[in-house]
Amino acid sequence: MKVANAEFVVSNAKVELCPKSKLPEYAFIGRSNVGKSSLINMLCNKKKLAKTSSRPGKTQLINHFLINKSWHLVDLPGYGYAMASKTQKKTFQKFVVDYFNKRKELVSAFLLIDLRHEPQKIDLDFMRWLGENFIPFAIVFTKADKLKTREIETKASAYLDVLKADWESLPPHFITSSEKRLGREDVLNYIQEINENLSKI
Ligand code: GTP
Ligand code: MG
Repeated sequence: MKVANAEFVVSNAKVELCPKSKLPEYAFIGRSNVGKSSLINMLCNKKKLAKTSSRPGKTQLINHFLINKSWHLVDLPGYGYAMASKTQKKTFQKFVVDYFNKRKELVSAFLLIDLRHEPQKIDLDFMRWLGENFIPFAIVFTKADKLKTREIETKASAYLDVLKADWESLPPHFITSSEKRLGREDVLNYIQEINENLSKI
């Protein structure tokens, strides 16, 4: 899929205030600093569309981006940021739980996982919560440029092996690097395929 147009729409703290346009949307979630905002910029070919930072906790609101005037990408705050205050953590929970439970336009989440680390409980718990709430998701492994080529496959399949203990069938997964623009076509084609199927309904 070509991204011919990508524009920021709105940031807000309440799911009720999200765009009313009824377009299909895809939300990026995962630990703080995993690379959600960078991935959105990479997919859209725009360096500064979503705000990124080397310090965790940059994205604090629900951010909608309109792509090709026909669907939304949503950048969400990250979880698992150790330095966040109790209030910030509570706000995050309310945001995200509300967003995922109430946002009818959400077609699929993308759960981002830093490929360098061993599976973390917080991510596995979050995946389980998505599953229990019937929220479809795909896994996006990030920062592949930080690993050697042969490590990438080994790490990804070791991660998926851990998931097999929990899940009857595995979610789709993608290996990406925003730095090297790896995985861009795969993620965009996946979205395009879903959008095309939705338009047939
Ligand atoms: P929060 O908004 O805090 O939840 O973080 P985020 O998940 O949106 O992460 P963000 O995109 O802001 O990136 C965090 C840091 O990781 C930044 O310093 C990015 O430059 C870096 N980063 C993101 N993606 C990649 C990647 O593919 N490769 C490398 N090497 N660094 C990356
Ligand atoms: Mg961010």
